[in-house]
Amino acid sequence: MAVSTSGGGRQVMDKEHAVKIPEHVAIIMDGNGRWAKKRGLPRTVGHKKGVDAVHEAVRVAAAAGISYLTLFAFSSENWTRPESEVNDLMGLLKTFIRGDLAELHAENVRIRVIGSRENLRGDILPLLIEAEETTKANTGLTLVIAFNYGSRDEIARAARKLAQKVVAGSMRVEDINAVALDRELDTSGIPDPDLLIRTSGEERLSNFLLWQAAYAELLFIPDFWPDFSRETFYAALASYANRERRFGGVVDVAAVS
Ligand code: FPP
Repeated sequence: MAVSTSGGGRQVMDKEHAVKIPEHVAIIMDGNGRWAKKRGLPRTVGHKKGVDAVHEAVRVAAAAGISYLTLFAFSSENWTRPESEVNDLMGLLKTFIRGDLAELHAENVRIRVIGSRENLRGDILPLLIEAEETTKANTGLTLVIAFNYGSRDEIARAARKLAQKVVAGSMRVEDINAVALDRELDTSGIPDPDLLIRTSGEERLSNFLLWQAAYAELLFIPDFWPDFSRETFYAALASYANRERRFGGVVDVAAVS
């Protein structure tokens, strides 16, 4: 595949067709538990299979020329799950970073972690920092892991940082606007998602990227996350390519003037 960036839109060309590729895809990986339940298996097996789907999604995103892939790995509300399940999810994240960091680094993947870092377990935070530090100069796909992430908490933390600047005298109240707040978010420097996918048939955002997804194309697909395959991802990209994005404006200005 050859990537062309000419003509304003980003396109990936292959033999048969040119496809409009989103710069940033964000995914709510939902349905691990139901995938397992349907098969009479413990939820933890669903989460393990979910990690396999993560590997596949990262491979497809890199191959398709997507620049940013954000995955909702653990929400600030997920702490209310039974302790054993929380431990399973922490274990899987640790295994993912320990086991896959070298390969991701070799494949030029840059890792960013978003979410609150307050009160994180001592065995998790150093791993997240190591993943970011090791890969920070990489120039390929940016894999954004949303961990201990909740959008309202992120926005409140950003507002607090702006307030602190005003109190310290380094910022005027009049200079608080959307751009200033955006800069204080965990996603600072990352473009807004173009396409936001949620698996498992649920159709809600569940406190994920509420600010950043203002103009994202939303795609809700019925498959449980462990069944999210290469084909599912390419079908999602094809669906995105057919969407008409207007960002609050009009596409054909001549037709309405
Ligand atoms: C939703 O399924 C999934 C999660 C809460 C966690 C997603 C985590 C992983 C796929 C593994 C770790 C991630 C990385 C990046 C290595 P659910 O448990 O809410 O499913 P249900 O709604 O069917 O119960």
